[in-house]
Amino acid sequence: MKIRTTVAIVGAGPAGLLLGHLLAASGIDFVIIEARSREYILSRIRAGVLEESSVDVLASLGLDGRLREHGLVHDGIYLQYEGARHHVDFSELIGRTVTVYGQQQVVNDLMLAHDEAGSAVYFESSDVLPQGIETPRPSVDFVHGGRSYSVDADFVIGADGFHGVCRSIIPSGAITSYQREYPFAWLGILADVPPSTDELIYALHPEGFAMHSMRSPAVSRLYLQVEPDDDIANWSDERIWEGLHERLGVAGWTLREGEITEKSITPMRSFVASTLNHGALFLVGDAGHIVPPTGAKGLNAAISDVAMLGAALSSYYAGDAGPLAGYSERALSRQWKTQYFSRWMTEMLHTTGTGAEAQSRYRGQVGQLDYVTGSRFALQALAEQYTGLPIEGI
Ligand code: PHB
Repeated sequence: MKIRTTVAIVGAGPAGLLLGHLLAASGIDFVIIEARSREYILSRIRAGVLEESSVDVLASLGLDGRLREHGLVHDGIYLQYEGARHHVDFSELIGRTVTVYGQQQVVNDLMLAHDEAGSAVYFESSDVLPQGIETPRPSVDFVHGGRSYSVDADFVIGADGFHGVCRSIIPSGAITSYQREYPFAWLGILADVPPSTDELIYALHPEGFAMHSMRSPAVSRLYLQVEPDDDIANWSDERIWEGLHERLGVAGWTLREGEITEKSITPMRSFVASTLNHGALFLVGDAGHIVPPTGAKGLNAAISDVAMLGAALSSYYAGDAGPLAGYSERALSRQWKTQYFSRWMTEMLHTTGTGAEAQSRYRGQVGQLDYVTGSRFALQALAEQYTGLPIEGI
């Protein structure tokens, strides 16, 4: 079956769904094609922190209703090391905040708004394959409900994640991958227990990084640094709580335990594609870049890409092709700053093994944290990057 649209979006995660809403607001027709089921996408537990600029993008589309009601506005974070907890007060330092609101909730809000708008979203599509991206008449082929479809469009958007098909169809001579693996992973849990902290705690401990985040006043999200090849089967609930108590504990504070409802291990990597554009194909979010989670930047980077691309497509159909031609460069310029920040946070807070070199590295990290927590300039730089750099061109 042939379908004609203006923009074909591959992927119904936060990036693809948000782009659909931005295009709709500019009167641009779109179709979203997604390999997974709606339930699967809604069940994936991902990030939890929105930059102020990400909230602004959602608000500009009137998609911030539930977010304002249920999101937790945080004025700062805690940095913890050597048994002491230091408050980093973003509000006081630079007058900005972040909002703790799960990616699942963002995706749910975006899906419900698409339901209301009657958007064309094809979940559970197989054999998804963009065609003719080097021609002015690209299309996306897929199979849905036993029928073969071909969507003709002016542009194809790869919002299909790190493992998606879109980036892989760019000829190898036209794209380079800049990649970096880290020698650690995060074990993450969701627990039915009110958070034991008012703001997120990032802790460096000789046994490894630990973090206390949250999803709501009744649900805590906690992380432990583990080996990249560790198996979740090695981590009983009891061992997880023990590790969290050890690494997050400070005098006069208690970590409340609750039922663990989800646990998993995620490897950490940095990845940037050398271009986010080839012919009629544009990449957004994880399809184009990945950061380690320490700076809470993955979802926010996807939102900033989409905000820039949505504005560029809107300009294109209003007669100005310039912003679209400059999209890849603008998005990558912001992304490399995000890469730098995420790597800086990651390397400042994670430990590597034992022995003399590891100890020297640890002492250096303590020196770095002493400097950061003791310098208003350094704290402001952290606050500026954590709460989100400006999004150019929107
Ligand atoms: C989370 O709540 O899942 C979370 C928060 C902050 C991070 C990473 C993950 O830096």
